[in-house]
Amino acid sequence: MSRTVLITGATGTVSTALMNALRGAEVNLRALVRDESAAGGSRERGAEVAEVAEVFAGDLDDARSLPPAFEGVQDLWLLTPNGPRAPENAMNAVWAARQAGVERVVRLSVVGAAHDAPNRSGRLHALSDREIERCGMRWTILRPHWFMQNLLNEAGDIAATGTFSLNMASARIGMIDVRDIAECAARVLLDDPDRHHGETYTLTGPRSLTFDEVAGELGLALGRPVTYLPVGDDAKRKTLLGHGVPEWIVDMLEEYARAYVSGWGDFTTDTLAGLLGRPPRDIAGFARDHAPAFTAAGDG
Ligand SMILES: NC(=O)c1ccc[n+]([C@@H]2O[C@H](COP(=O)([O-])OP(=O)(O)OC[C@H]3O[C@@H](n4cnc5c(N)ncnc54)[C@H](OP(=O)(O)O)[C@@H]3O)[C@@H](O)[C@H]2O)c1
Repeated sequence: MSRTVLITGATGTVSTALMNALRGAEVNLRALVRDESAAGGSRERGAEVAEVAEVFAGDLDDARSLPPAFEGVQDLWLLTPNGPRAPENAMNAVWAARQAGVERVVRLSVVGAAHDAPNRSGRLHALSDREIERCGMRWTILRPHWFMQNLLNEAGDIAATGTFSLNMASARIGMIDVRDIAECAARVLLDDPDRHHGETYTLTGPRSLTFDEVAGELGLALGRPVTYLPVGDDAKRKTLLGHGVPEWIVDMLEEYARAYVSGWGDFTTDTLAGLLGRPPRDIAGFARDHAPAFTAAGDG
């Protein structure tokens, strides 16, 4: 009988890609969404949640809302949103999973998660990683590096001006395509629950890149020059706050930027190749596949 996988964060970047990666597999997909109407709305973002999964309403902030979605589930894909309540969100999901007799949790953590990480997100994720390691179910933790898809936040500027501004100086980052994270997650979820039990996989792209190099690859894919303009923390903070990004997130991003500028993210691993039997997607492929998003129309 097919296993039932509950997908959290179902309308977001990684889980959308995971549901795509699980398309056609011998599993029953179930999606937890805060607002069932958002499942329909996310179709525009490519998720088509309601078409590929059985949709259950539930809020990771509200433990009492969760039990129905977990009933009859074998595997939990646990993704918590960025924010100070992430460990509480994970705890609520883990408890609901235990109560429902879920067999396995596959959790999205973050690169460098540790109690002494130089960023609050890494320290919060470390709390949930520790909880998962003691959850009594089968478990696997994925710790991906900086998402190439974060570059889509710069698409408007690139389309309008051919430039983008980050407070990353000449940082090198072993950035990864989210589609690869999703394929690794799918691999783990489709393998026997014992196969990856107790493993923590740090996932990266194939090489460590500066944003000048990223700009060069975007320029090649778009057929016109793209320039990276380094800015200071204060300038970036002002821009993000001006776009309505919450202060907690702005602080978190600044902590990451400082860590990356210090060389903290300048590494790659061969874990992904070991899991998938192929090299990770590179930035040229990302740029090619997402070129329409970086063009003036933005939707072409
Ligand atoms: N960006 C990076 O470079 C990077 C790198 C490594 C790891 N990560 C980790 O990746 C995770 C974020 O993944 P993502 O980018 O795919 O997320 P995302 O696109 O921001 O989506 C977040 C998802 O969480 C859902 N959500 C928010 N609050 C919720 C709640 N209270 N209860 C239930 N669902 C809730 C959202 O649903 P709604 O539709 O209801 O809002 C949405 O589906 C974070 O844990 C982050 O630390 C990020």
